[in-house]
Amino acid sequence: MVLKMGDTVEYGSVDQIINNPQEEYTQALVSVRSIDHEEKAPTPDPVLSVRIITARYKGTNFDVLKNVNVDLYPGQTLAVVGESGSGKSTLARVITGLLPPSQGDIEFAGRTLSPDLKGRTREDLRELQMIYQMADVAMNPRQTVGTIIGRPLEFYFGLRGSEKKKRIIELLDEIELGEKFMDRYPAELSGGQKQRVCIARSLAAKPKMIICDEVTSALDPLVADGILKLLLDLQKIEDVAYLFITHDLATVKAISDNIAVMYQGQVQRYGGKSQVLSPPFDDYTDLLLSSVPEMRLGWLEEVVAHRKMESAGN
Ligand SMILES: Nc1ncnc2c1ncn2[C@@H]1O[C@H](COP(=O)(O)OP(=O)(O)O)[C@@H](O)[C@H]1O
Ligand SMILES: [Mg+2]
Repeated sequence: MVLKMGDTVEYGSVDQIINNPQEEYTQALVSVRSIDHEEKAPTPDPVLSVRIITARYKGTNFDVLKNVNVDLYPGQTLAVVGESGSGKSTLARVITGLLPPSQGDIEFAGRTLSPDLKGRTREDLRELQMIYQMADVAMNPRQTVGTIIGRPLEFYFGLRGSEKKKRIIELLDEIELGEKFMDRYPAELSGGQKQRVCIARSLAAKPKMIICDEVTSALDPLVADGILKLLLDLQKIEDVAYLFITHDLATVKAISDNIAVMYQGQVQRYGGKSQVLSPPFDDYTDLLLSSVPEMRLGWLEEVVAHRKMESAGN
């Protein structure tokens, strides 16, 4: 049974719903993550180079990142994927200067960044933006959407009055919400709309790169799909690079140019999307890839049979 806003949209057998959906809404649900993105080749100069980074948290006695080495190219997407606890968010913290590494460098836009946030320039902050999973807590509930998007315009570009308003409206148009959302408060927005506002706020700074940490993980699949499509469209318009952190391989397949598979603080596998997603696989990547649910009959039975065979072989 397919439900939408309390109404039954469609009802049928598994086979009919998956292979022959009748209603437009069901069709959209079933074909979700059908985003088509052609992998781009690396260019000579990366916008970001993470150079042999090792890091640990204060008061702990183990490294959560070990010799992490990845590049991100201008206008492209590097997906960082791996199970919970593999070190993805810690990598974001090191890049943004919240957790200075014990070894290694972050090179960004042709310069070496200060390991500590305090040592970074306003230009560093402007050019490297971040979006989080919980759009809720990333916004001040007492500020309107206009105020939220306007703040980086004031802070980085000194915009005021009508100039600022014009730019806010442009950004609201870019995220497909429009001027009418300017006076709304976060509580008056849906989850997807909140995430769009956070995207607009980061774009307001005209960044070279945005770190997206699980930005679609709290959204339902259709809304998440809309956000991914928006991010890809905006990438073309703004020529912005994404470091896209996710545990969801379907998302990775949809949007990335390069992929880094992380496992226990190390990069297990790294390269262009087609290369990383083609065999032969290491055991961890194989497990990760075979865990991506597919919308087809018999998928689960095949996975279970495959794993039984593997464990019998070992
Ligand atoms: N503030 C912290 N202090 C100590 N250990 C932490 C902290 N944050 C995360 N960790 C540990 O670092 C490792 C990597 O965590 P994290 O980077 O959040 O993983 P991921 O984002 O891939 O789920 C985990 O073992 C986690 O328990
Ligand atoms: Mg995380």
